[in-house]
Amino acid sequence: MDKLSKANSYKEENHVSKDELPMFHVTPPCGWMNDPNGFSVYQGKVHLFYQFHPYSEIWGPMHWGHCETEDFIRWTELPVALAPDQSYDDAGCFSGSGIETEKGHLLVYTGVIEKEEDGEKKTYQNQCLAWGDGEQYRKYEQNPVITGEMLPEHFSREHFRDPKIWKEEDGYYMVAGNKTDQGKPQVLLFFSKDSMEWQYVSVLASDQDDTLGSMWECPDFFCLDGSYILLTSPQDLCADQEFHNGNNSVYYMGVYDRAQHNFHYQDVHSLDDGLDFYASQTMLASDGRRILIGWMQSWDSNIRPADQKWACMMTIPRELQLKQGRLLQNPVRELENYHKNEVVYKGKRISGMRQLAGIEGRILDMTIEIQSGDYREFTIAFAQNEKYQTSFTIRRDKNQIEIDRTYSGMVRDAISIRRVNARTTLKTCKIRMIMDKYSAEIFLNDGEQVFSNTFYTPMEADAISFYCDGTVIADIVKYDISMS
Ligand code: FRU
Repeated sequence: MDKLSKANSYKEENHVSKDELPMFHVTPPCGWMNDPNGFSVYQGKVHLFYQFHPYSEIWGPMHWGHCETEDFIRWTELPVALAPDQSYDDAGCFSGSGIETEKGHLLVYTGVIEKEEDGEKKTYQNQCLAWGDGEQYRKYEQNPVITGEMLPEHFSREHFRDPKIWKEEDGYYMVAGNKTDQGKPQVLLFFSKDSMEWQYVSVLASDQDDTLGSMWECPDFFCLDGSYILLTSPQDLCADQEFHNGNNSVYYMGVYDRAQHNFHYQDVHSLDDGLDFYASQTMLASDGRRILIGWMQSWDSNIRPADQKWACMMTIPRELQLKQGRLLQNPVRELENYHKNEVVYKGKRISGMRQLAGIEGRILDMTIEIQSGDYREFTIAFAQNEKYQTSFTIRRDKNQIEIDRTYSGMVRDAISIRRVNARTTLKTCKIRMIMDKYSAEIFLNDGEQVFSNTFYTPMEADAISFYCDGTVIADIVKYDISMS
């Protein structure tokens, strides 16, 4: 049997029951998933592909899993789109993107090969194409279309991946992650008139101050509300006031010199301050919204129960906006169509430890808006019972925020606490929390700062409690999310 059919029949036979999976977050049907890929519209529907290894719950030779949606919330699973079955991609079909073209749905991805050279194993990464009808995809006969040979001297052929394609008036553009032989991370720009024949254009951006890690994975470049934004996921960052150690996802704001095809950034910020977020990718929805989705997982912390037959999930898709030079991220508005059982508290006074009737559950959308109060610390504890809890704490005196999943049921000593500075003063604040069984995505002050976190706490732990060391007066609105 060929590799694609094998992957498809394996996933059918080993499909995890839907009740075990999160309700509205994309997960693999079985096995392992990482980066979102090919997030794009084709024939009116939104398609999402992902890095997929069906055969085990750890990373392995990469396939592209596939699903589609009409509203970013209810996803339909589709056949595996790509398998590592050609001489130019047999070590993996790595990350890439998608776009609607006259010839069908075009996917661009990184074909990885490994060769034995002078007794050493060498890896090469090249860019490849596949076309499809939204369900079946065929790789291009002339793959790979961009190889390391087309790059300037001293640019890595081994670290050259994750193409993101878009169209402009004169043709197609593509960015891909790369680094120099001296280890400087950079994003390369390519151009094609017809989407098949490509040429190298420029180094679009590189690490200007030599502070941003070793390799920039998963670049994305787009214009939002009149400003150019670059996204990358740098590896091997060293923690500072803005970033945490290891793999981060960041956005850069700056000036794009179109003539030189060079983007000079003035600002770099973290995209998400939670424990689990990486490799994000955006798409332009048919109504003009720029939507971002990320992998809700960290490469450095594996906290899933050993017997769980699926690994990793995506974030909820988020609408992006620019406000006063900062990126705002908010859950897609379509989530509101699935709100059920509204519970409202107006001007509720909370002091000490408090639970509120109707405020509980593991699949919900809850907003707490602090109106006033005299306090230093305010905590929301969730996925909670006598044994377990995960918490989100605002420390107003230090202007800091802390997530703590130490007691979420982990049996590994992986990262469980993250403490970050709040971007704006926490004098008043609005906390929106989206929970879907094993994750909580927290949007602070209408998306000024986001915290994405997973925890694999047994489902019976579904209490929510509040703690305040002084007093807060808050409005609380909570909905269950229901797909039935
Ligand atoms: C990012 C990444 C990509 C690569 C893919 C492989 O998480 O390392 O750079 O294409 O994962 O699965």
